[in-house]
Amino acid sequence: MGRLVLLRILLTSLRQSVGKQANVTTYILFNGLDTFAQVSFCGKHIASTNNQFRQWRLDISDVFAACRGTDVPELEVVFASAPETADRLASEPGAETWPWGIEGWFEFPNRGFVRKEQSDFGWDWGPAFAPAGIWQKAWIIQLSDEKIVVPNSVLDIYRVGQLNNLPPDQSADWVLNCSIDSLNTIPHGAQMNYKIVDASGYVVSSGHLKNVTNAGDVITGSARLNESTYKLWWPSGMGDQNLYNITVEIVHRNETLASVTKRTGFRTIVLNMGAITDKQLAQGIASGNNWHFEINGHEFYAKGSNFIPPDAFWPRVTPQRIESLFKSVVSGNQNMIRVWASGAYSPDFMYDLADEMGILLWSEFEFGDALYPVTPDFLENCRQEAIYQVRRINHHPSLALWVGGNELESLELTEVNATAPEQFDRYLHEYETLFLEVLLPAVYGNSRSITYMPSSTENGYLSINFSNPIPIVQRYNNLTKGSFYGDTDYYNYNYLEAFDLNIYPLRRFANEFGFHSMPSVETYGEVLPDDELNFNSSTIMLRNHHYPAGGLNITNYANSSKGMAEMTLAVQQYYPAPNKTDAVANFSSWCHATQIFQADFYKSQIQFYRAGSGFPERQLGSLYWQLEDIWQAPTWAGIEYSGRWKVLHNVAKDIYQPVILTPLYNKTYSMLSLYAVSDSWTEIKGSVTIEWVSWDGQTLNYSTGRVTGDQGAASTGGTRTADFTVGAINSTLLASINMTDVANTKSFNASHGVFVANLTATGTPINGNATNTYKHTNTFTPTPLASAALVNPGLRIRYDKDGRIFEVTAEKGVSAWTWLSVAEKDSSVIVAFDENAFFLKRGEKHMVGYTVLAGGSDGWEGRVMVESIYNNTLPD
Ligand SMILES: *[C@@H]1O[C@H](CO)[C@@H](O)[C@H](O)[C@H]1NC(C)=O
Ligand SMILES: *[C@@H]1O[C@H](CO)[C@@H](O)[C@H](O)[C@H]1NC(C)=O
Ligand SMILES: *[C@@H]1O[C@H](CO)[C@@H](O)[C@H](O)[C@H]1NC(C)=O
Ligand SMILES: *[C@@H]1O[C@H](CO)[C@@H](O)[C@H](O)[C@H]1NC(C)=O
Ligand SMILES: *[C@@H]1O[C@H](CO)[C@@H](O)[C@H](O)[C@H]1NC(C)=O
Ligand SMILES: *[C@@H]1O[C@H](CO)[C@@H](O)[C@H](O)[C@H]1NC(C)=O
Ligand SMILES: *[C@@H]1O[C@H](CO)[C@@H](O)[C@H](O)[C@H]1NC(C)=O
Ligand SMILES: *[C@@H]1O[C@H](CO)[C@@H](O)[C@H](O)[C@H]1NC(C)=O
Ligand SMILES: *[C@@H]1O[C@H](CO)[C@@H](O)[C@H](O)[C@H]1NC(C)=O
Ligand SMILES: *[C@@H]1O[C@H](CO)[C@@H](O)[C@H](O)[C@H]1NC(C)=O
Repeated sequence: MGRLVLLRILLTSLRQSVGKQANVTTYILFNGLDTFAQVSFCGKHIASTNNQFRQWRLDISDVFAACRGTDVPELEVVFASAPETADRLASEPGAETWPWGIEGWFEFPNRGFVRKEQSDFGWDWGPAFAPAGIWQKAWIIQLSDEKIVVPNSVLDIYRVGQLNNLPPDQSADWVLNCSIDSLNTIPHGAQMNYKIVDASGYVVSSGHLKNVTNAGDVITGSARLNESTYKLWWPSGMGDQNLYNITVEIVHRNETLASVTKRTGFRTIVLNMGAITDKQLAQGIASGNNWHFEINGHEFYAKGSNFIPPDAFWPRVTPQRIESLFKSVVSGNQNMIRVWASGAYSPDFMYDLADEMGILLWSEFEFGDALYPVTPDFLENCRQEAIYQVRRINHHPSLALWVGGNELESLELTEVNATAPEQFDRYLHEYETLFLEVLLPAVYGNSRSITYMPSSTENGYLSINFSNPIPIVQRYNNLTKGSFYGDTDYYNYNYLEAFDLNIYPLRRFANEFGFHSMPSVETYGEVLPDDELNFNSSTIMLRNHHYPAGGLNITNYANSSKGMAEMTLAVQQYYPAPNKTDAVANFSSWCHATQIFQADFYKSQIQFYRAGSGFPERQLGSLYWQLEDIWQAPTWAGIEYSGRWKVLHNVAKDIYQPVILTPLYNKTYSMLSLYAVSDSWTEIKGSVTIEWVSWDGQTLNYSTGRVTGDQGAASTGGTRTADFTVGAINSTLLASINMTDVANTKSFNASHGVFVANLTATGTPINGNATNTYKHTNTFTPTPLASAALVNPGLRIRYDKDGRIFEVTAEKGVSAWTWLSVAEKDSSVIVAFDENAFFLKRGEKHMVGYTVLAGGSDGWEGRVMVESIYNNTLPD
């Protein structure tokens, strides 16, 4: 620590002679300095910076004109250590303090005092490098004429009359509002023109912007656009991603002074937190408030995960890497990613890719798991950061939401209320100062199209009234029993409770939930030598940051061991545990087994939340923790740092299909209920087949209970088929099976039976007109697989070279967690199979396609292996 990073740049193309010319202005524009920099030019100090997320616009004309002694001007940027600066700020007299534990911290404390990526100070899924440097583009600009240089601008497209947070009238015309920043003064009398071009290059409309206001450094105008002229932008799975280029020019005396082109789309997206209506009550929805998204006036089920910084060093995050990750998002049937706060604001190319691929990005201001100071300087710094980012990003149709920060209301306020109740009013006031009085106006003042809420997990607002300066009054704990509000953030590391539905949180939306698992041995192999490929590896233990001790003591393994043990205990509880003699093979099987538990647990929650779309809580979203990894470590990710899909990403892909079957086992009442769940916007009709089979593939004569619509006696076995319909974004009960009755079946053997349900259905897909066919299989076992009488399923795999497809069959028995992988540790090929970690009945054949994500050795297809959970019971 204590090191300064010094960058000295000789600006050979900047000749001092230019600087001496009259009427020439010279600027330095930094799009981002990380974080504490002293900037000097020609030996003169020109700026001190203290915010990674702001743009710095420096007029150096005078310094440049006075630059003497050398013909080649020199720019110097000296960075101080952010962790040291944080400590210094925290120890200044009068600095705000909070009770111990309020700031969640890992390696470095006091991050709340600095406007820098908070996870750079350490997090439970990543390292703490706290890098420093010029991390975004920078320019030196010299102007000798009237031309205008635009450092930032905002395009806002909304419906006439639309207000943030409220569903607009979908039949209203559009408003295009454009506001352009300028480094130099915009001449009095300047006007604005616009042109809208569709993807084929056709100019859809053009004209003058009206109501132009010119403040000198920013000019704003708007146009009213015909509602029916523009094709709507839709998220993936709901329609096309129609995009338009909008060019706005600043013109003065027939001369174009500046031109800004942004690619955008026409859509409205609202997080509806309004009161439940009488109409909704009549549909069986419980009272309280809504908490769901609406795209172009349609509510939809949000399916997705949480995005963390994909690298400790942002300059390594390329468009190619994000594109590859986003392909996995879309093929994983996800339509929304929560860009978690405490990382960094996403680059424009990430929003561009999301616009093209139809991924909604729930975006947050970078505050989280802490409370923050409210000195005037700190607040002004946050305000500038928020305004810059809102204006930069607003035109992207993928932008779904602005949130003040991560886990603030649900965690931080609750904890400080518990630990320092006598100080709570002050802390609450400080919270509202930053998150309602500073950040909310930064959104509302620059956008009419985006919803704002203060905290990622919260109970929503009590009231919203746009005639008040701050329209939102938060609800906090003013709740009515029996009513539902808000979203949930749920973690429970007691693996014994993992599959108990009665413990899952019941609210309108689940924005975080999860459990950690190991990455594959191939991914570990990128950073670990063979002799560290084991559970006691000190490197792996040190990368398990699950339990910070209020500052992870990195010489103390006790906490790390706890995080490691949670994974292994869960595996031993639920699955046959691997027991191989070859150390690396055993480690590999164990890594895989921890992934199976993780995926199983997430699946159990996702299907419960999705079924909730038809329950009184009207649950309309599940975003699991977390999409991807920042390094090779035991974490909550579904996609490893290498890009390999864990079991989780495959299972999420299956359970995020539009129409699924969901067995829900209510442990307390021994009731197994089978639901069909659909997030289609039209009714789906189909049929379901249910049966009990033994592990060797025989149909069993166990009770299949009551099939809905069949009021007769519960069936005593065999295969049963029933027709059903399921309404738009709804779930419907298909069968109820009393497990006590099943257990009373004469031949019942808990370790022997698997309940298997198969669905085929047809319907109009979301927003489409063709008919789609849906298929889904789901299962339930009355005993954990750890005590099931598994048999060797006799798996076979054959590669069909012409069809570029793998044919997988189970010849001798039933295969659970059927898993395809490339059978060589050294191969760099990373493949996403179209289907993986699936259930295969005896005699069933699955045709599995694939996508190569990276690498590839000649003939790797011939070295693809298939295994199942049964392999864990085998020696090497
Ligand atoms: C500098 O700009 C001012 C105002 O635009 C103008 O009056 C003056 O003639 C300019 N001087 C030179 C040397 O171009
Ligand atoms: C917008 O302009 C860019 C740059 O010229 C071009 O690549 C893109 O295809 C255009 N897109 C649309 C939707 O017009
Ligand atoms: C211009 O302002 C007037 C008065 O506020 C308003 O009625 C009109 O809709 C505005 N025009 C546009 C294109 O925004
Ligand atoms: C702009 O150009 C048009 C046509 O070339 C001309 O009639 C008009 O006078 C010009 N306006 C100004 C302010 O120079
Ligand atoms: C879901 O379907 C049930 C049964 O058809 C119906 O009573 C209920 O109103 C539906 N819920 C919604 C929100 O549409
Ligand atoms: C703070 O704690 C008090 C006492 O337990 C409780 O009544 C109140 O609802 C809490 N407020 C918040 C915002 O958590
Ligand atoms: C709680 O909410 C009700 C309306 O639901 C409101 O009348 C009341 O003032 C609120 N109480 C507090 C303490 O905000
Ligand atoms: C389990 O069944 C009981 C009794 O019917 C019910 O109260 C409870 O809500 C059920 N739990 C779930 C998660 O459905
Ligand atoms: C970290 O843990 C080690 C081993 O338990 C202990 O010796 C050391 O004092 C701890 N360091 C701190 C700063 O707590
Ligand atoms: C693991 O395998 C060894 C022999 O390879 C055997 O002695 C031991 O009992 C097995 N352990 C378990 C838990 O099955």
